[in-house]
Amino acid sequence: MTTLIQNDRFLRALRREPLDRTPVWFMRQAGRYLPEYRATRAKAGDFMSLCRNPELCAEVAMQPLERYDLDAAILFSDILTVPDAMGLGLSFAEGEGPRFADPIRDPRQIDKLPVPDPNVELRYVMDAVSTIKRALDSRMPLIGFAGSPWTLATYMIEGGSSKDFARAKALMYDAPDAMEALLAKLSAATSLYLQAQIEHGADAVMIFDTWGGALTPEAYVQFSLEPMAKIVAHLKRVAPTVPVVLFSKGGGQHLELMTETGCDGLGLDWTTDIGKARARVGAQVALQGNLDPSILYASPKRIRMEVAKVLQSYGNGSGHVFNMGHGITPGVNPEHAAAMVAAVHELSPAYHAA
Ligand code: CP3
Repeated sequence: MTTLIQNDRFLRALRREPLDRTPVWFMRQAGRYLPEYRATRAKAGDFMSLCRNPELCAEVAMQPLERYDLDAAILFSDILTVPDAMGLGLSFAEGEGPRFADPIRDPRQIDKLPVPDPNVELRYVMDAVSTIKRALDSRMPLIGFAGSPWTLATYMIEGGSSKDFARAKALMYDAPDAMEALLAKLSAATSLYLQAQIEHGADAVMIFDTWGGALTPEAYVQFSLEPMAKIVAHLKRVAPTVPVVLFSKGGGQHLELMTETGCDGLGLDWTTDIGKARARVGAQVALQGNLDPSILYASPKRIRMEVAKVLQSYGNGSGHVFNMGHGITPGVNPEHAAAMVAAVHELSPAYHAA
């Protein structure tokens, strides 16, 4: 049984239905820029211990909603939970990025990787979804998420973050069949993972393809888009009414192809003009974005001007979810995020007048 959601602007915008104003949430809204987040993480000990504690996940997922008048909550977890559940051994050292204890260093490892059961190895994520849903009490929708197979593969092969994807790209070019086998496994795992998040209460899901933009157009289609398209097809079979948003950072040239997957919304980074993107694909999908996250280092007055430009560029009518073009960064003053949200509230109703 589905319960009615009190503030459903986010879901209505994804369905391009009429609205009173543009909904707003932002990537990494629960994160290190908030002192209360840092306090909860300290209580947990480290980031992964926080992710494995459903009560504390709910606490941090709710923190931005207490500060700002937002229209969606996002699951508190990470995209790298899936490779961790496949046995790669994830850790985050303070002040460093993610690390895998057992990265993929030999293509023969790929066949042995298990496809995790989301209700067993990723039980803690499902418990976080249920606990956050309960805390939200139907006030607004909850966004579930996963990484794209390509983005996960880069971390699994590099063993962590990378500037040039030397090992991942060498494998892709020298052993494309091995790369495809890895991506197929990740598509299968991610399809089940997102389906389980939906079964536990996620109202929409987003796929983060942070590194799709590092590929040539040809490689993007084969190694990033196709594996995501398989996930969208699976979700549309098992949960046809749940909106799916695809976000390929640096993927502005691929919007038409992304739309053909059958997804409901596209996340845009700040290098794409949202008005031009709308002219290309706005009749078929909603658009989410795309304020440059660095704007939040400028003054509240300047932030308001830049919010106005994004709203104006998208133009009249529904189908826009306001967001930034990537996650909020740890050095941002929380008051500046407040200025962004307030500007969306004040300036967007003019674009929804009957
Ligand atoms: O948006 C939210 O508020 C929900 C939570 C969320 C996190 N990670 C929590 C997190 C989401 C949606 C993610 C997605 C994620 N994780 C992506 C895709 C989106 C993007 O930013 O491009 C990627 C590439 C990762 C992998 C990852 N997780 C990296 C590279 C790092 C370290 C670098 C960094 O930016 O911190 C993380 C850690 C992480 N994930 C933190 C948080 C709040 C910070 C960890 C800490 O508290 O020390």
